[in-house]
Amino acid sequence: MPFLRNTWYVGAWSADVATETLVARTILGEPIVFARTASGEVTALYDRCPHRFAALSRGHVSGEAVVCGYHGLQYDATGACIRNPHGNKTIPPGAIVRRFPTVEKHSLVWIWMGAETPRPAEIPDFRILDEAQPKFVSKRDYIVMKANYAIITDNLLDLSHVNILHEGLLGNEQANEAAIDLDVQDDTVTVRRFSENVPVPKLFDLTFRQDGKPVDTWTEMRWNQPGCMLLDAGVTEPGAGKAAGTSVIGIHLLTPETETSTHYHFAAVRVNPPQRSAEEELAIRDEVSKYRRFIFESQDEPMIELQQQRILQAHDNPRPALLGIDAGPVRAQRILREHIDREAREPQLATANGER
Ligand code: FES
Ligand SMILES: [Fe+2]
Repeated sequence: MPFLRNTWYVGAWSADVATETLVARTILGEPIVFARTASGEVTALYDRCPHRFAALSRGHVSGEAVVCGYHGLQYDATGACIRNPHGNKTIPPGAIVRRFPTVEKHSLVWIWMGAETPRPAEIPDFRILDEAQPKFVSKRDYIVMKANYAIITDNLLDLSHVNILHEGLLGNEQANEAAIDLDVQDDTVTVRRFSENVPVPKLFDLTFRQDGKPVDTWTEMRWNQPGCMLLDAGVTEPGAGKAAGTSVIGIHLLTPETETSTHYHFAAVRVNPPQRSAEEELAIRDEVSKYRRFIFESQDEPMIELQQQRILQAHDNPRPALLGIDAGPVRAQRILREHIDREAREPQLATANGER
């Protein structure tokens, strides 16, 4: 399936694009370089110097300019060449790099890959990252998974695998029978599940009472195109209701690198945690960060990457034998497909490469 272009993708955590540095990322198969200039502004340029096509990411930032590391042509944040250090210093007319619109919001750098005028209001709401106290926010983390982002979206929107693949850590088999509720509002898909009186998963025992006693659990995953998800997962005393419990809000942001690899940015915010000392809070924060990275990297990633391999190896065009638990992922993929189809009908909306 082609990529949706006229939408916001996460390019990087803001903090990972330090002042006067370049960060190279392939996005939708295109080479992009993010630069933060001395004034603190972030820009995203097509990562190819128009002179001899060197990767600009092999150069450096000097003040407000991106300097090509090959022959030293300099570009401003808009991609216009502003200096040729050679000979009579004439700037050739074609010395322009394509710039992609960016917005910094919710401690992330977002990039717009299409030809339409960008619509900042369409960046999904992750303000919880801005509002939470740092001691409740786990590491703003990042991995690359060797799989198409749709497979990872299916994984995240499928609340049921938690009880099998992450058994004991995030869920348990006793929670398998709970109904999954699907809610679709415009282009936002939400799936919810509530389980009563089940063994407490390890991660939630850590964030809640640390006594190993049974709990009621809830999971509520919100999806927005193209691969932006927010998961409210929590536990409470059996019968006590959500307000008496605590939750971990998981932020999951998928950006296609290529057809078969995905940038995965994630973090988690603890909400309504029991009263603890600052040292205990920081220790729990670091444990939550470690648990989550372990879960995604050691449990989800190998499963998903082999799934991708099986799909690539298939000669028989297999169709998934879907279950009731797949309703959320199927709905989200359908919404995404509608937007991609619209772009396919109006090819001028998509841009093929880095030419201006
Ligand atoms: S390739 Fe960039 S200046 Fe020559
Ligand atoms: Fe998972």
